[in-house]
Amino acid sequence: MRELLVIGIGTGNPDHMTLEGVAALARADIVFVPTKGDEKAELAAVRREICARHAGASARIMEFPLPVRDAANPRYEAGVDDWHAEIAGRYRELIGALGEGQTGAFLVWGDPGLYDSTLRILERVRTENFAFSVKVVPGITAIQALTAAFAIPLNTIGNPVTITTGRKLREGWPDGVDSVVVMLDGQKSFAHIDPAGLRIWWGAYLGMEKQVLIEGPLAEVADRIAVARDAARAAHGWIMDVYLLRRAL
Ligand SMILES: C[S@@+](CC[C@H](N)C(=O)[O-])C[C@H]1O[C@@H](n2cnc3c(N)ncnc32)[C@H](O)[C@@H]1O
Repeated sequence: MRELLVIGIGTGNPDHMTLEGVAALARADIVFVPTKGDEKAELAAVRREICARHAGASARIMEFPLPVRDAANPRYEAGVDDWHAEIAGRYRELIGALGEGQTGAFLVWGDPGLYDSTLRILERVRTENFAFSVKVVPGITAIQALTAAFAIPLNTIGNPVTITTGRKLREGWPDGVDSVVVMLDGQKSFAHIDPAGLRIWWGAYLGMEKQVLIEGPLAEVADRIAVARDAARAAHGWIMDVYLLRRAL
């Protein structure tokens, strides 16, 4: 049977690769590397460097353009479903390049279990007539890179944490938590909520040379973060950022 390795590669620093990830990559016959157009060229570059360091000498590196979600679709869930169907078609072609008994590797940003649909999409691809096994190698997430960069714990003692998106944060503070991690926020949602009593730890390009960190009471630093975010995005053409918000219970 064909085997697929879904390897978490961390958030932009090739040194985030775990020893387990390095060993897994070294035994892949084909490594699938997504490219997403110019603004994400740097992300493909990180994956290429990881391949150059750790893939086996005879491994084939197959780059493929990852379909882009139609952000204009007003029905978010339906838009995501169409997008995943398109990616599933692409994955089927890629996996079809593996011979019986061969191993392919997908290099997934951060950890494959956190805000990433590779595993969900592979389940769509797998059928009785198109079988493969899946092995996941965990990676360092953006959340771990954030809390490590600030040298802070993620949670307060004995309390839960909510991980959410900018879109959901704008609907209101989640019930029953003092700590909220916000990912996938292209809209600077931190600037659209009541800042009273909130502290923010914000990080962009975590793990990369151009990493930016800002923290403080939200009321005092929200504008500074917004300006820094816009400037960084303009300078580099893309941005990935994540933040932890904490309030006194
Ligand atoms: C599609 S999710 C992927 C998350 C990833 N699987 C993980 O484990 O971190 C992308 C989001 O992760 C966060 N992210 C990923 N890499 C990051 C980085 N280097 N710096 C800051 N945020 C990052 C951002 O919130 C971004 O919008």
